[in-house]
Amino acid sequence: MEDIILDCDPGHDDAVALMIAVASKDINLLAVTTSAGNQRHSQTLRNAMSLLTLMKRQDIPVASGNTKPLMRSLISGVSMHGVTGLDGADLPAPDFFSQGIPAIELIAKILTEHPHKVTLVVTGPCTNIALFLSVHPELRSRIKQIVILGGGMGLGNWGPTTEFNIQVDPEAAKIVLDSGIPIVLAPLNVAFEAQLLSDEIDQIHKIDNSVAQTISGLMDFYGISFGRQRWGFKGLPLYDPCTVAWLIDPSKFTSKRCNVEVETKGELTTGETVIDYYHITNRKPNAEVLFHIDRQWFANLTIDSIKSFNF
Ligand code: BDR
Ligand code: CA
Repeated sequence: MEDIILDCDPGHDDAVALMIAVASKDINLLAVTTSAGNQRHSQTLRNAMSLLTLMKRQDIPVASGNTKPLMRSLISGVSMHGVTGLDGADLPAPDFFSQGIPAIELIAKILTEHPHKVTLVVTGPCTNIALFLSVHPELRSRIKQIVILGGGMGLGNWGPTTEFNIQVDPEAAKIVLDSGIPIVLAPLNVAFEAQLLSDEIDQIHKIDNSVAQTISGLMDFYGISFGRQRWGFKGLPLYDPCTVAWLIDPSKFTSKRCNVEVETKGELTTGETVIDYYHITNRKPNAEVLFHIDRQWFANLTIDSIKSFNF
């Protein structure tokens, strides 16, 4: 059983990552913290709480993170995720309270109190985790590993070579990657492969529970905003769930230990992850980088997770 804190910015694909984490018998979701990313911090907090209300998991503590990236203004993800960050679904209003402490203090509390080391899963910009490491260095040893959705080796989805989460807060990503804590990085190379095909989305539409209805609405909106024809993809890539999927079964992925640096000063490439696949530099590998996923397994995991909600 993997004990995790999910730091996210829901976001359609964050919602699926959260849903899989809640459904999984292999994951113990200790808390959810939210970041400014796909939407403003107040909206991503609300979205996370709405999703937990939908899944009847109001017992999971939630806290909101920083209002903006460490050194930059927030880039808006509205073109992908709509004005609410979760357009396309009619979500319930949150019916519980957040913890009323900053995300970094909730992370500190859980790491202090939990008897085992905890995995941090990051499906938004790295802002909260970078702040946490700076403010609470004494708790670093309580972190088992940090699993991040972000970056790309030669691929971009926001700029030609930049991925959204890293581009939003490159300085934060650099702090986390340079931290010396074990890192697993799921870049676009693997995330572009984590696709649901049309018939699999149809299967989700036919599942008779309220979580399926919500995910169906989200996928319909996301499918349009993603515009997969433009990318030449057969299916709809769901980035963020790669993180929790890897925790559930790493054998379904291929990976390689590489050095990963973040470009923070590039003229055209700020926010790019420079992944030294062939170990061309002498820089020490600092991350396990995921490259491929068993797509069919991933689709089955997503569908089975949705089916497991019996209300
Ligand atoms: C990442 O950007 C966000 O829009 C998604 O939620 C995901 O975390 C993919 O680049
Ligand atoms: Ca996200």
